[in-house]
Amino acid sequence: EDEEDLQIRPPVVTVMGHVDHGKTKLLDAIRKADVTAGEAGGITQHIGAYQVWTEHDDIERAITFIDTPGHEAFTAMRARGADVTDIAILVVAADDGIMPQTIEALNHAQAAGVPIVVAVNKIDAEGANPDKVLQQLTEYGLVAEEYGGDTMFRRVSALKGEGINELLDAVLLTADAGLDLRANPNRQARGVAIEAKLDKGRGSVATVLIQSGTLRVGDAIVTGTAYGRVRAMVDEHGEHIEEAMPSRPVQVQGLSSVPRAGDSFIVTDDDRTARQIAEKREAAERNAQLAKARKRISLEDFT
Ligand code: GTP
Ligand code: NA
Ligand code: MG
Repeated sequence: EDEEDLQIRPPVVTVMGHVDHGKTKLLDAIRKADVTAGEAGGITQHIGAYQVWTEHDDIERAITFIDTPGHEAFTAMRARGADVTDIAILVVAADDGIMPQTIEALNHAQAAGVPIVVAVNKIDAEGANPDKVLQQLTEYGLVAEEYGGDTMFRRVSALKGEGINELLDAVLLTADAGLDLRANPNRQARGVAIEAKLDKGRGSVATVLIQSGTLRVGDAIVTGTAYGRVRAMVDEHGEHIEEAMPSRPVQVQGLSSVPRAGDSFIVTDDDRTARQIAEKREAAERNAQLAKARKRISLEDFT
């Protein structure tokens, strides 16, 4: 990519942590703090990725957030989440302290070289002990500024909406402290499917994150073994949009099937190319499955 083609894009922040430590609640609180919220349409959609606008040093800036589940069954998704992430918010409930998925999440982030901001949540809860969380995480290399380290910890209550602006400030400080957040918007889009489902009325609905280029209604795309023309794009406010720039998450309609979370997508010159790529992948997957089944059968022959 040529230097002069690159333009600033918003940071992509993934919220990770142990089950029930308050990741989704925290994102709800962040959405309420959105300076553009409360406008026409309001915010009703509950999707796993969205962009909010925040005021920082009198400047309005966008941040993209991705929610992840804390349940242990979702290990792979956390690993993939770390891949598209610029900054990780590690949510730790102050009444519970660090737990297995706390450690797993921070391992993924550290392995991917992603800076971590710690949100010590539920400070309002009975038995909350935020200082203990700071001490516990020191063992994993996350040393708080107040202990002489350089990891930003922010005490928050997602329930009461406390500490949210301080947390967002910490995220933007991290973004400004040496991350190269640039992408070329003037090319065919590429990115990653964050989540997808089959909707009764709309068919395949996939939330995709644009990593570079601009995605437009009418573009031919392929993601995993799903392909098609983008029939409609819907933003986090439920509004239809015509194009999406880097770091933007959007719901895409028009795919032939439901992609898997973590599948990357590309725009192709035409829908025939998209279909051909998808069919090749499908054939390769079928062959791999057949080979596996054959291996299983031949092993059974010997036992
Ligand atoms: P998974 O997605 O299942 O991993 O959970 P999560 O981390 O998204 O947690 P979620 O936001 O669903 O919150 C779990 C529970 O904790 C809910 O009952 C929330 O109301 C509660 N909770 C979240 N934040 C706070 C908080 O700041 N204080 C208190 N007291 N409760 C909270
Ligand atoms: Na939960
Ligand atoms: Mg959740």
